[in-house]
Amino acid sequence: MTDDKDPVGKDALASAGMNTRLAHLGNHPFDFHGFVNPPVVHASTVLFPNAAAMETRAQKYTYGTRGTPTTDALCEAIDALEGSAGTIVVPSGLAAVTVPFLAVLSAGDHALIVDSVYGPTRHFCNAMLTRLGVTVDYYDPEIGAGIESLMRPNTRLVHTEAPGSNTFEMQDIRAIADVAHRHGAVVTMDNTWATPLYFRPLDHGVDISIHAATKYPAGHSDILLGTVSANAAQWERLHEASITLGICGSPDDSYQVLRGLRTMGVRLAHHGESALAIARWLETREEVAAVLHPALESFPGHALWKRDFKGASGVFSFVLKAEPGARKAKAYAFLDALRLFGLGWSWGGYESLAVHVNLNDRVIAKGPAEGTVIRLQIGLENVADLQRDLELGFAAASLL
Ligand SMILES: Cc1ncc(COP(=O)(O)O)c(C=O)c1O
Repeated sequence: MTDDKDPVGKDALASAGMNTRLAHLGNHPFDFHGFVNPPVVHASTVLFPNAAAMETRAQKYTYGTRGTPTTDALCEAIDALEGSAGTIVVPSGLAAVTVPFLAVLSAGDHALIVDSVYGPTRHFCNAMLTRLGVTVDYYDPEIGAGIESLMRPNTRLVHTEAPGSNTFEMQDIRAIADVAHRHGAVVTMDNTWATPLYFRPLDHGVDISIHAATKYPAGHSDILLGTVSANAAQWERLHEASITLGICGSPDDSYQVLRGLRTMGVRLAHHGESALAIARWLETREEVAAVLHPALESFPGHALWKRDFKGASGVFSFVLKAEPGARKAKAYAFLDALRLFGLGWSWGGYESLAVHVNLNDRVIAKGPAEGTVIRLQIGLENVADLQRDLELGFAAASLL
């Protein structure tokens, strides 16, 4: 339904296609004199009209750390995409992991973390959670309902990430969430790879969905931001933790991420299509032992991906065949020969990137044994040009 102030009403958007929703979510032009985009509101101080209003905080905005019209616009859009009761914005994707962990866990608690987790999440658990008196165990990403055997009376958090970082193992999120809930634990998921366009964690039993908005939502390799979205049961404590910690995303970065959302659907479709084309091509190369991409029929987690996900984004890995003693040298020769692919961390931007993956911190999901793992982020360039670039890498690696 359309009202006078809102040219695209909420009801119309709820049933609209994804790109239509992305084009309009979070925008209320007539709240801002008709300007299509929300203003970037820079704020620490917010004034109150009188002392009584100040004491009771009886107005929508009270202080810069507690939200502005800019961060609210982004949170509203993310809530609509995630199906969440509330969203916080935080300064990075890593903070989007650490804030909910700190919201949920106390000294004496036990946390179960998937072994294919984003590396710095593991570091936070090992370096800081353990210092704060939390016991941490890592579990097999493919464990499914078998996680039952790892639950303890004090398990308060089960953290998932699917596909896993670098090796892309899929997880049976529903099965894990059901077990965790039976034991009273909160389920978090780092959903950065799929974005809420291709997977909506809360629809599959997850309580708190985590995103490095740095990646596809920002989309241009120039912004760091995280979003954390909770269901109704977990929203109050997540919100309270972010206020207590004073961790909030900036209005400039929130604006840029909201801007990125407008084109995220078309960008993701292009990233996904190109990545799958290159993954299929890599499967035909004799230098490649395996391609780790959930949308490939050959991938062990493919059935779960097909059951639960609506699409695949543009990041995956492949295993470059190499004898144990020659792995690093081959990987370096391959990477150093690339001209279009940059060598850089992060992903989700418009440009292609390659990384030599280090799996030494894994305790269970140690990765394929046949060679060395190279992760590719497929950007928006033409597939033929990217293939030619990868051919340079294979040629250089074959000389060793
Ligand atoms: C799966 C995943 N989660 C979280 C992050 C952290 O994001 P940020 O770089 O914004 O801290 C990353 C970054 O690479 C990531 O790959």
